[in-house]
Amino acid sequence: MASPPTKSASQRLFDPAATACPHAVYTELLDTEPVSRMPISEAAIISRYEDVLFALRNPEIFSSQVSEKLDLGTDRPMIPQQIDPPEQTRYRKLLDPFFSRRRMKTLEPAIRLNAANLIEGFLDSGHCEFNKQFAIPFPAQAFLHLFGLPMDDLSLFLQLKDDIIRPQQKATDPFNTDEINSIRSRAGRKIYDYFGELIQVRRKAPREDLMSSLVRARIDGNLLSEEEILDICYLQILAGLDTVTATLGCQIAYLAANPEQQKRLYERPDQIEEAVEELLRWETPVTGVPRIVMQDTEIAGTTLHAGEMVMLLLGAANIDPREFDRADQVEFDRPRNRHIAFGGGHHRCLGSHLARLELCVALEEWHARVDSYRIPPGETPTYSPGIREVQYLPLAWG
Ligand code: HEM
Repeated sequence: MASPPTKSASQRLFDPAATACPHAVYTELLDTEPVSRMPISEAAIISRYEDVLFALRNPEIFSSQVSEKLDLGTDRPMIPQQIDPPEQTRYRKLLDPFFSRRRMKTLEPAIRLNAANLIEGFLDSGHCEFNKQFAIPFPAQAFLHLFGLPMDDLSLFLQLKDDIIRPQQKATDPFNTDEINSIRSRAGRKIYDYFGELIQVRRKAPREDLMSSLVRARIDGNLLSEEEILDICYLQILAGLDTVTATLGCQIAYLAANPEQQKRLYERPDQIEEAVEELLRWETPVTGVPRIVMQDTEIAGTTLHAGEMVMLLLGAANIDPREFDRADQVEFDRPRNRHIAFGGGHHRCLGSHLARLELCVALEEWHARVDSYRIPPGETPTYSPGIREVQYLPLAWG
């Protein structure tokens, strides 16, 4: 009997094995297919660091105006991710100070307390399912602090986010596109309504939170319209929750499977910041970002045509040996770590200071309490494709 045809690297990219551990597929793409094609959509995948960075830095060729191609339940493009410079730059000038390192630092005590409380909640049992018990609620709590919202709304936000990102989980038939679309658009409506009300409340009685800053903010002397504020807030839910959840899961899963590296963090907690950066590079949980080609262009010998969708494969770029010495080694003390796990160019992550704060605080509080954790024998973590969330991460200690 003829053996089945071997799958190419781009075909294997979304297989469960590659989702859990994508480095071999990335390396094959970097070596043999620097521009490849997605299995069904035929969208181009760009893998090499230099090419990905070129695309990120040239929005006139690689546009972010992809809202019509990606259904996320929105009425309009999300700000600033789905619009291009120069309009996008005007919003970033306004938003960057609201997310500065200094401003995010003021959230640290609340974030640290949340991390400690979550861990204390299961510490004595000697085990946990990390995703559900820590990685999902922790960033959502930070989000509520940022917006000055009550902790009672935690489960509402988690539900809304899941209905947008993974509506299949709620659908009676996960292949019924009408049902999927209606779950998504209902959640979208609720997000607009919730933040619409909050805008009114904060306009009347501003406080010290992000929404109060947004309702007072002006561009060229004009206050932001309600729609602009809604389009900024909608993105916050989608950009700021799953990304941190996924990163925490990937980082703790790596450390649980690599006890020597884990030991280093107990011995040298001062290295946690560097470890977070190196694990962002190595795990790159936001594996790729989409773009649409605006004018015919050539990348690594392949012509891309105007109108084509493209995936910039950040994960592969981050282990490209053309950019990183010993790219296939995890080195917490890597001297020059110009990873692009937060993207690059105009759209570089607005929330990177908050993300880094959350990740460092979580790892500090975790390693201060939980001793020598591991994945219990017979258990296997499961990863989701796209954003590499470790959906099931059983851990045991003691
Ligand atoms: C470890 C966690 C995070 C990772 C890995 C991550 C990754 C990214 C990446 C790769 C982009 C670029 C998207 C593109 O080029 O199309 C991005 C953009 C963005 N991120 Fe993050 N992110 C994280 C956390 C956060 C948080 C906590 C927030 C909110 C507070 C946030 C808000 C945003 C926003 C608003 C953008 C769009 C920026 C723009 O288009 O100008 N992110 N993020």
